Amino acid sequence: MLILGIDTSCDETAAAVVRDETTVLSNVISSQGIHHEYGGVVPELASRAHLTLLLPAVESALRQAACGLEDLDALAVTYGPGLAGCLLIGLSTVKSIALALDKPLVGVNHIEGHVFAGRLADAGLDPPFIALIVSGGHTQLVHVEDWGDYRMLGNTRDDAAGEAFDKVARLMRIGYPGGPIIDRLARNGDPAFLDFPRTYLDLDGFEFSFSGLKTSVRTYLSKRSEEEVDRDQAHISAAFQEAVVDVLVDKSISAALSVHARSILITGGVACNSRLRARMTEKGAEKGLGVVYPPPILCTDNGAMIAAAGAFHFSRGRRDDHTLSVHPRARLAVAGGAA
Ligand code: KG4
Ligand code: ZN
Repeated sequence: MLILGIDTSCDETAAAVVRDETTVLSNVISSQGIHHEYGGVVPELASRAHLTLLLPAVESALRQAACGLEDLDALAVTYGPGLAGCLLIGLSTVKSIALALDKPLVGVNHIEGHVFAGRLADAGLDPPFIALIVSGGHTQLVHVEDWGDYRMLGNTRDDAAGEAFDKVARLMRIGYPGGPIIDRLARNGDPAFLDFPRTYLDLDGFEFSFSGLKTSVRTYLSKRSEEEVDRDQAHISAAFQEAVVDVLVDKSISAALSVHARSILITGGVACNSRLRARMTEKGAEKGLGVVYPPPILCTDNGAMIAAAGAFHFSRGRRDDHTLSVHPRARLAVAGGAA
């Protein structure tokens, strides 16, 4: 079975070919550097860039997988959540190819795609498990009762974890995207340099909030000179990162214990964070929980995860038709796959 997967939900133009839910043949990601100068994703610029980058990405994914469009069994594409104009470029392109070549089409929920990155990374990852999906747009704790069967445990009430990294990096004027920069700087910093607030909201619940932490960093920075901030960059980064990581780790572990899951998957762009990976692995081991995190290329937005989720649904008979539309605010269904 050969499945092409396409994701254009945000600022990565991604195309990939998988053989099945666990085997990646190619995974091409064209990052749109154009957003760096704005310190965030500009939706209109992103959709225009998808328009020019998508077909070359598809061609190179097919070339690397040593196959042609005619060899494909199905085409999988993200229909949501994401930026409407961006999603439309991917969906219209895939619909045109499917129609022209008379190939089946499978729409994939982007969040479910991030969960399937775990399947690609570790074929031994077996439900039930807890998935922490942390990216620039999402912070969600999901109970994966089975592949295709999800229960949402908690979401962020305001900023996503990655958004907090990006906003704090902008406040510190250290560049965009902020996550990888803060991660790198924090390696030489002291996490105990400052005690930024950890927002747990309801202690027994699984909802997140990061806007208070961001405000606290802003207030701290406003009282310091530029020279002081530059001098203490590493310490401030480490202290901020520790506050985010503490909450993500504590809530994920208690979610896993509350549903008697055996393991935790961390996925999405923020799952590249070295401190989050290390702390989750350490705390998980203390509680007898396995921790899985995909390699960075499968954590950030990519086409392979969409193709893998598409392969799963395709092999169980799902087909979408040409009335499929984009759903910018799509949620993960309670059961039975994407909604
Ligand atoms: O999954 P992704 O590529 O796109 C979205 O769906 O949002 O995630 C991008 C986010 C950005 O906010 C970026 O700052 C964050 O992931 N990120 C990181 C790291 N690498 C990427 N955050 C913390 N530490 C990292 N090493
Ligand atoms: Zn994503």
